[in-house]
Amino acid sequence: MMNTLIAGGAGFLGSHLTELLIAKGHNVVVVDNLSSGLMSNLESVKDKIGFIKADITADEISITGGLDLVVNMASRASRAEWEKYPVEVALSNSLGSSNLIKIALAKKARYIFASTSEVYGNPDVVPTPETYKGNLNHLGSRAPYDESKIFGETLTKAYEAEYGLESIIIRFFNTYGPRMRGGDMYGRVIDRFIKQAMANEPITVYGTGSQTRSFTYVSDTINAVMLLIEKGKPGEIYNIGTNKELSIVELAKTVIEVTGSKSEIVYSELPKDDPLRRGADNSKISALGWAPEIGVREGLAKMMESYRA
Ligand SMILES: NC(=O)c1ccc[n+]([C@@H]2O[C@H](COP(=O)([O-])OP(=O)(O)OC[C@H]3O[C@@H](n4cnc5c(N)ncnc54)[C@H](O)[C@@H]3O)[C@@H](O)[C@H]2O)c1
Repeated sequence: MMNTLIAGGAGFLGSHLTELLIAKGHNVVVVDNLSSGLMSNLESVKDKIGFIKADITADEISITGGLDLVVNMASRASRAEWEKYPVEVALSNSLGSSNLIKIALAKKARYIFASTSEVYGNPDVVPTPETYKGNLNHLGSRAPYDESKIFGETLTKAYEAEYGLESIIIRFFNTYGPRMRGGDMYGRVIDRFIKQAMANEPITVYGTGSQTRSFTYVSDTINAVMLLIEKGKPGEIYNIGTNKELSIVELAKTVIEVTGSKSEIVYSELPKDDPLRRGADNSKISALGWAPEIGVREGLAKMMESYRA
């Protein structure tokens, strides 16, 4: 039984991880400022966890008792949010990371940092391995997110080198599934496409739609996180994502088929600095025994059902 702190545990990924940790008999304290997360995400476990409403960049976080693991998932994660709250996002992954690392060190706990495939920028090697150095615009519109995640990784490594922090860095590729928030502010591409398709409204594809992404269903992603908690090697960085690239226009067509929609596809301007390709070289996590189980069609159908419910 482990004592864990999940920062950002009221969010999409954090709440699914909290549920799995509780199901496996671990103790969980969630720290979250509810900026993009919702208490309702924790409804099924609310009587079994501790909850501290706090901002990891600004608030004193006092944990009584020991901790074995600190997971840092506390960052807004959609493009509209990075554009509207660039300072908040940049500080969450830098100053906030530092504050959480200090808690992990004080408690002699392992630290897991939720980084992102965005640290690769616009890669010229796809599927992209963890060793790829990145191709980014540090002053671009995505920079408050991308660069602060890179710094969050650097800081993790610095504390590891100087203070012996035991850490694992996870680079998540796009994950989708129930509890992914929607709407103009939080919505991510799959959420938008499914909602447009279910309403038989035009599906808006940016650019030509030939840009690719790697989509992993949330249960597969969270199983991978659990595997890393149990078997990940300290000091290592792991991609979590599929190596199957799907173009955005293919995604739109698949959503139309799965939902049985009459939507048409319409095209609009590609946002600045949008990466052209995403695909995970997942051989490192696969070597630990991970393989995604839910394909895109099945995952989209599950999401559609959750929206109907
Ligand atoms: N979902 C994905 O596809 C994906 C991909 C790459 C990386 N990630 C990373 O995984 C983590 C979780 O992402 P998510 O999709 O669950 O996003 P989310 O927005 O649903 O969850 C983030 C949670 O962190 C909380 N939070 C944000 N800033 C905070 C702060 N300063 N102090 C305390 N709490 C704060 C929010 O209220 C929310 O509950 C993030 O770090 C994100 O960057 C996610």
